[in-house]
Amino acid sequence: MKVILVGAGPGDEELITLKGLNAIKNADVIVYDDLIGENLLKYAKDNAELIYVGKRKGKHSHKQEEINRILVEKAKENKTVVRLKGGDSFIFGRGGEEILELKKHNIPYEVIPGITSSIAVPEVADIPLTHRKVATSFTVVTGHEAEDKDKKQVKLSELNADTIVILMGITNLKHHVAELLKNSRRNEQTPVAIITNGTKSNQKIVKGTLKNIVKKAEENDIAPPGIIVIGDVVNILE
Ligand SMILES: C[S@@+](CC[C@H](N)C(=O)[O-])C[C@H]1O[C@@H](n2cnc3c(N)ncnc32)[C@H](O)[C@@H]1O
Repeated sequence: MKVILVGAGPGDEELITLKGLNAIKNADVIVYDDLIGENLLKYAKDNAELIYVGKRKGKHSHKQEEINRILVEKAKENKTVVRLKGGDSFIFGRGGEEILELKKHNIPYEVIPGITSSIAVPEVADIPLTHRKVATSFTVVTGHEAEDKDKKQVKLSELNADTIVILMGITNLKHHVAELLKNSRRNEQTPVAIITNGTKSNQKIVKGTLKNIVKKAEENDIAPPGIIVIGDVVNILE
């Protein structure tokens, strides 16, 4: 009886760790999300049970409580359960919440880190998040809570890192750009890149500035999932 949280990496299935892949090969049950390289499931045992709990593909989306219940139930059947998540399980992945639930039920667990998309997706698009003399700090934030003003914790206008990385920010891009411009460290010429489906065969990169990125995103039919990078590092390798 054990649950292993495995970070699948950013999308290209070869970017999983060897340890993560071995866990998949040995699992009795794999509970998986969107944004994992689906070819990874081919490594599962023939009789492994594969349970999809993501939000896309037109199926009903599983609430977190439901996912927690599946993990606990399957582990209590004395099975080795792999909880397979995109990127790294702890970076906007609710991995911590799942572990708290497992602890409540005294279920042993292990965490196998994954390469988070927040760093790897810019990297494959030739954007290093730090670069000596240009960027000595970066911040990764969610752009998802922007509409929910009461609960809002991220204030883009107050972020002072040299490089800002926004996950889940495409839908509210216009709002984010306006907020970013409220900080005097940035202006309309500040470089911006958006990378969608990073590391995958359908990867798309659009570059611009805070002045024109909204228009460029529209012109290029940019749609989630994507990562927004703001700062001088965007063009540093050109
Ligand atoms: C719920 S978060 C999970 C992040 C994940 N735990 C990680 O460490 O990469 C999902 C968001 O990550 C970003 N993302 C994940 N994979 C991506 C990819 N291959 N290309 C672009 N963005 C990606 C998008 O912003 C997406 O909306």
